Amino acid sequence: MAEEVMNNKQIILKHYVEGYPKESDMEFKNNNIKLNVQEGTNVVVLKNLYLSCDPYMRSRMSKLEGCYVQSFTPGSPITGCGVAKVLKSGDSNFQEGVVVILVVEKIGMFHLRWRMDYHDSPQLVSKNGVGQFAKMLGCCVVGSAGNKQKVDMLKTKFGFDEAFNYKEEHDLDATLKRYFPDGIDIYFENVGGKMLDAVLVNMKLHGRIAVCGMISQYNLDKTEGVHNLFCLIAKRIRMEGFLVFDYYHLYPKYLEMIIPQIKAGNIVYVEDIAEGFENAPSALVGLFSGLNVGKQVVMISCE
Ligand SMILES: NC(=O)c1ccc[n+]([C@@H]2O[C@H](COP(=O)([O-])OP(=O)(O)OC[C@H]3O[C@@H](n4cnc5c(N)ncnc54)[C@H](OP(=O)(O)O)[C@@H]3O)[C@@H](O)[C@H]2O)c1
Repeated sequence: MAEEVMNNKQIILKHYVEGYPKESDMEFKNNNIKLNVQEGTNVVVLKNLYLSCDPYMRSRMSKLEGCYVQSFTPGSPITGCGVAKVLKSGDSNFQEGVVVILVVEKIGMFHLRWRMDYHDSPQLVSKNGVGQFAKMLGCCVVGSAGNKQKVDMLKTKFGFDEAFNYKEEHDLDATLKRYFPDGIDIYFENVGGKMLDAVLVNMKLHGRIAVCGMISQYNLDKTEGVHNLFCLIAKRIRMEGFLVFDYYHLYPKYLEMIIPQIKAGNIVYVEDIAEGFENAPSALVGLFSGLNVGKQVVMISCE
């Protein structure tokens, strides 16, 4: 069989990053990839359709020790999650033409996880989903975001009861007291730093904090301290971190639940789609100045 070769573009991390990531920390490289799959192997050759830009990728741009993900290697390609089409396959579970979801597991390796047997948009619901789920469960939900457009969207599109622009609030303790005069029952932590400190003093007795992310800390050489941890004791607060990796086995069940909700319009989502592989570095960097409105994806090809 004649050897089939195709051009393969990569984004290379030039060096470990300090402070905020910049487009100049990355460079493009072109090489060729062989499409043929040797008989008897379970190799799968993929064409990326969509790539996901995620805040955790910033951590991987630093030299990490004892973390749940591995550092990227300077001089090597940046990897991430996405949606791809199988071009050639030696694995009967992933036949040619099938669309798959790619996830990065704890050690930083790609894994093909699920065939997509539905034709909705590949991105599902990210953190706005948390507020929407809370509304479905009958909670009163207050969100925070970094500009007016996002604040308005939280209230008008995502159905939050209230929302505020944290960049315009100079006393977060007073802000939280304004929105939660009786205290906070549940806080979904995505930010860390000053917000977490203000939340701790405004939690109710036996309140709960799910710790998902701390994006305000990812670009700091020295992370800010948290000063109000004593509230955990005084208010008997339960605070627990979680990682999406631990729940991948529930993803098919999640799709079963979420797709009808999306189709019925009960759960909505917004995607920010950067078109073209060449725009991936700017899309990734933009996450840390709030340039994205909605889940940031990069469209490489629609088929
Ligand atoms: N535990 C897990 O398994 C897991 C999985 C996925 C994501 N996460 C975490 O969840 C959080 C949200 O991630 P996402 O994937 O949904 O992406 P995302 O919300 O699109 O993250 C980017 C947004 O974060 C906000 N931001 C950036 N710098 C900030 C700062 N210094 N302070 C406050 N907000 C800041 C910006 O919005 P504004 O304009 O509003 O500032 C920006 O648009 C992140 O902390 C991420 O690490 C955790």
